[in-house]
Amino acid sequence: MIKSQVPEYFRKRRDSLMKANSAAAFILPANPEYVRNNDVHYPFRQDTNLYYLTGFDEPESCLVLAPTGLESPAYQVVLFVRERVREREIWEGERYGVDRSAKIFGADLCFPIHELGKQLPGLLKHAESVHYSLGRDAETDRVVLRALEEQRSSQGRSGRGLLPLLDSRPVVGELRLRKGPEEADLLRRAGKVSALAHKTLMEQVRPGWNEFEVEALVNFTMRKNGSERLGYDSIIAGGRNATCLHYRANNEPLRDGDLLLVDAGGECDYYTADITRTFPVGRTFTSEQAQIYDIVLKAQKECVAMTRPGLTIEQLYDHAARVMMEGVEALGLLKVPAAKFISEAGHKALFPHGIGHWLGMDVHDSGIYKLGGAARKLEAGMCFTIEPGLYFQPDDAQWPEKYRGIGIRIEDDILVTPEGCEVLTAGAPKERAEIEALRAGSR
Ligand code: GLY
Ligand code: MN
Ligand code: MN
Repeated sequence: MIKSQVPEYFRKRRDSLMKANSAAAFILPANPEYVRNNDVHYPFRQDTNLYYLTGFDEPESCLVLAPTGLESPAYQVVLFVRERVREREIWEGERYGVDRSAKIFGADLCFPIHELGKQLPGLLKHAESVHYSLGRDAETDRVVLRALEEQRSSQGRSGRGLLPLLDSRPVVGELRLRKGPEEADLLRRAGKVSALAHKTLMEQVRPGWNEFEVEALVNFTMRKNGSERLGYDSIIAGGRNATCLHYRANNEPLRDGDLLLVDAGGECDYYTADITRTFPVGRTFTSEQAQIYDIVLKAQKECVAMTRPGLTIEQLYDHAARVMMEGVEALGLLKVPAAKFISEAGHKALFPHGIGHWLGMDVHDSGIYKLGGAARKLEAGMCFTIEPGLYFQPDDAQWPEKYRGIGIRIEDDILVTPEGCEVLTAGAPKERAEIEALRAGSR
């Protein structure tokens, strides 16, 4: 769809970036398009940083933010885009083209993408450094490196070398880490739609369905309710498949008596949710499943309750690990006390992943986790997941047979607020009684 305008916040983000990095140029190319076979492509999604700074969603494009050396305007916005070619538009759809891109996306200058190499050296004239992520696309790397050399040699006998080249990702990532009000709204929307999709599964899934039928219902419900695509491939894991953390095959039938772990989140205008729920394929949890579920839920709810500015994700991990291992110990499953089990890293057999990650436009969003070697303190506006889980590997003989093959994760999306936090995915049921009530009504 061709947009007629984009919100003002894109310009504000560019201003913030360039104010914090005043003599730096940024070169942010579109994501490459990947061919699946013959004339068929994988779905295209714009490079997140390019979208974050422009709202521009076409492939074969590049944003350059170039310092002018003047007080005002301190930098120029330059877009390189595909030209309008009638033959291509008949096959692939309408393009913005050079003139419209400048107007709609607020670029000072706009050129056809094939002019990137020609224009870059001049655009770098007032830059003291260049932010560009090397190594993603060999052809663009070559264009950028040649432009750096041309910029250097254009200065005559200056004795200077190439401009320093820095990765753009951590710098833009720091901006993206703190969400503005418009971002919080989109994350709220994504959380709501995704929670509804999980609830719909609890109402409709039946024993005998294949995992891919569940996946289809997730896709349908997300899209029917306003999410244009998913933020990542859904994990639809019945029974022991749930003990594979990033299970992706999604192609086995569901059996009554097993659990179903679903990890799925939809995007709303490039902001994604990331939710996991685990519920019985049949009507009720078995007693072993219920025991483990209650332990994970206790850890998850306590972590949510603790979250506030000043806390670290590491503290949440430690808390979840302790609560879950004490729970497992209370079931008589540990040969050593929980604290010793954790200090010897034994708990990693049951809880092998972290407690969560930054969330935003990417499911594993940008932002540095440690500052000066220490875990970063949460601040209002940061968004992340809380997702403890327990996974009894089917072949791990240290656990009684009846627990093996149980995999449970409960994952919510959390926005840190000045007073504490907001759970963006609260619409997805996680209380065992509520889930069982929904399952009871499922047939
Ligand atoms: N959906 C992947 C994750 O939870 O990190
Ligand atoms: Mn996650
Ligand atoms: Mn997830």
